[in-house]
Amino acid sequence: MHWSQLLLAAAALAPGANSAQLRFSCAQLVVDRLDPIVNPGAIPSPHLHQIVGGNAFNASMDSTAHDLASTATCTSCVFTEDFSNYWTAVLFFKARNGTYKRVPTMGNPLGYQASQGGQTVYYLSSGKVTAFKPGFRMTVGSPTYRTQAEAKKNPALQFTCLQSSTTRTGYRYDFPTEFCKAGLMVTVRFPTCWDGTNVDSPDHQSHVAYPVNKKCPSTHPVAIPEVFYETYWDTRPFNDKALWPADGSQPFVWSFGDATGYGNHGDYVFGWKGDALQRALDANCQSDLFSDKTNCPTLKTQTITQSNKCSMAPRVKENLDGWLAKLPGTMDM
Ligand SMILES: *[C@@H]1O[C@H](CO)[C@@H](O)[C@H](O)[C@H]1NC(C)=O
Ligand SMILES: *[C@@H]1O[C@H](CO)[C@@H](O)[C@H](O)[C@H]1NC(C)=O
Repeated sequence: MHWSQLLLAAAALAPGANSAQLRFSCAQLVVDRLDPIVNPGAIPSPHLHQIVGGNAFNASMDSTAHDLASTATCTSCVFTEDFSNYWTAVLFFKARNGTYKRVPTMGNPLGYQASQGGQTVYYLSSGKVTAFKPGFRMTVGSPTYRTQAEAKKNPALQFTCLQSSTTRTGYRYDFPTEFCKAGLMVTVRFPTCWDGTNVDSPDHQSHVAYPVNKKCPSTHPVAIPEVFYETYWDTRPFNDKALWPADGSQPFVWSFGDATGYGNHGDYVFGWKGDALQRALDANCQSDLFSDKTNCPTLKTQTITQSNKCSMAPRVKENLDGWLAKLPGTMDM
């Protein structure tokens, strides 16, 4: 089932049932070559990321010492008690002459078009779930994947070639080979079961797992909300036959040198203040899927204009604009 059907199925649950659907915008916080989960302390990390959320994001974010909610002074997300950080790789366009241009993110045209890039973030639940503990983090997918079989180990690490802002068909695990009139939507969905003990694991993945027959396995018995990203990449300026490869291949490449798309992955560090996330889940908040209505009075919000103001200067000073001779970092193809 495609994620949008899952969303509609969740939305159709009878009122009174335990189910939540938080959907909100987080503007771009910074584009930087840092990765505090996979390469803590490395300035720069091997590849470039686009990051949203609280401004306590840093090269190193130790799971015990680093309390995002008390360190951050602003968040680029609409829910102001959410100082979590959410990030993905960065998309590049490769020209016929071998140079690269960074593709910007754009606000979600369904309600959040005023957002200065970034992501739309969802927390979904059906049934009672336990919010993450302070210090919790996880990744999903892998920059090393280059086959569909690998990418499919995780449901919904997908691309949707938008013909309009409401296109929700033709999703795929690799880069589309045709023009996407309204841009390229990339989705990242995290597992929903937790081992109940560890806020992290050596591979940043094995402390969480997917349900088996709709139930969390005994090794990972605690149901957690489903964290889910949608990132809208503004590929529209590149919809020009004269710019695309003459051999019919597609021109986009992830910042870690992947021209297949199968290496799509996401990173998450929990940083909600106090019990705010649990409160919203317990209140069964149901945000609208097509507008900016977050429908969650138990949470404090800010306007998109305010969320756009929360940004950080990149720690790694390098040129990211214009046509670049190589991808930032060491992972050039
Ligand atoms: C990032 O970490 C460094 C070293 O611990 C610290 O000096 C700096 O203030 C931190 N920056 C932010 C934005 O938290
Ligand atoms: C490479 O191609 C791009 C896109 O066609 C063009 O704008 C740029 O000037 C070219 N750069 C060089 C060094 O030829």
